[in-house]
Amino acid sequence: MSKVVLVTGANSGIGLALCERLLSQIPEGLQLCLACRNMQRAQAAHSALLASHPAAQVALLHMDTSSISSIIRAAQEVRLRYDRLDYLFLNAGIMPNPQFDVNAFFKGLFSSSVITMFATGEGILTQKDGVTPDGLQEVFATNLFGHFLLVRELEPLLCQAGQTSQLVWTSSSNAHRSAFSLEDIQHQRGTQPYSSSKYASDLLSLALNTHYNKQGLYSSVICPGFVMTNLTYSILPSFPAFLWTLLMPIFWLIRMFTNTFTLTAYNGAEALLWLFKQKPESLDPYVKYHSLTSGLGTNYTQPHKMDIDLETSESLYEKLLQLESEVRKKLMEEQEEASCRI
Ligand SMILES: NC(=O)c1ccc[n+]([C@@H]2O[C@H](COP(=O)([O-])OP(=O)(O)OC[C@H]3O[C@@H](n4cnc5c(N)ncnc54)[C@H](OP(=O)(O)O)[C@@H]3O)[C@@H](O)[C@H]2O)c1
Repeated sequence: MSKVVLVTGANSGIGLALCERLLSQIPEGLQLCLACRNMQRAQAAHSALLASHPAAQVALLHMDTSSISSIIRAAQEVRLRYDRLDYLFLNAGIMPNPQFDVNAFFKGLFSSSVITMFATGEGILTQKDGVTPDGLQEVFATNLFGHFLLVRELEPLLCQAGQTSQLVWTSSSNAHRSAFSLEDIQHQRGTQPYSSSKYASDLLSLALNTHYNKQGLYSSVICPGFVMTNLTYSILPSFPAFLWTLLMPIFWLIRMFTNTFTLTAYNGAEALLWLFKQKPESLDPYVKYHSLTSGLGTNYTQPHKMDIDLETSESLYEKLLQLESEVRKKLMEEQEEASCRI
């Protein structure tokens, strides 16, 4: 039986590399659905995938993970197109208006935490978040809540008797407990919404395992390592392309000391691909699976225990359910109002 795989944020970077690697390794029996916001880039990705795999089954789906109505529409469409879903890669993500703290960087450069700083971005990255038309914090909505709603909407396809399905979140080693607060799950008051959203996805993955394993649905998180993609280039937007090129040999050198410098999207997708091949029942819900690349360029996946606990993950889950019911109520009221106006 063919496997149905949906990937969010599949039109570039790690998501696209995952699609390419899946099609290369499993040339038959794969139905791939690229769920994307920017359809122009999605079309280009679709053409590129079909150029290298002409017989592949690759479909496109419009989905903006920051928009409640877009998620609900897209999920409806998925339910019409497929009767089950084997893999859901929750990969779309943003880090808007990143501010690079040059002082913290140079301080870190000459401290004992230099490798951690390079590996996780801890202490050197802050962001300016926005608010979506739904009234949610943009990073929270895009990276976490939209994906949560998507899982809830696709429950009938993901939880089927006698079958297992897998959710895989592209998290980050930038997910820090210190950036997250249960009193402010959307991170309205802080300057690290990205780290908060990624830590929340680690917690949520654990809660989803608690609530859905009995129904055959399993959830895992990965870190792709430090990968040069649109997201990382945007950290220093004014940095000219030639400077990035000049920096590359230094990055390759750093890889000798930290295997988290995976650098290419192909390498970064390693743990996603590895998880695709595992029996979900054998996975540990408390670990994050890291894509790593050795100094000599060998890719591998390694589990690392996460700094998460069941109680906090359950509390977050409750809060997300509460928010879900609020946004659904609001959406229904808006729809009723709109139908009254017609
Ligand atoms: N690069 C790294 O070093 C690194 C490290 C740790 C974790 N990650 C995570 O890896 C994931 C993929 O990022 P990347 O590095 O591959 O960067 P990327 O090339 O910028 O990919 C991000 C993807 O997310 C999509 N996206 C953004 N906002 C969206 C929305 N509202 N609705 C639907 N899709 C949306 C983008 O599509 P559009 O074309 O519409 O913008 C794009 O396809 C992210 O979750 C990121 O946080 C990356």
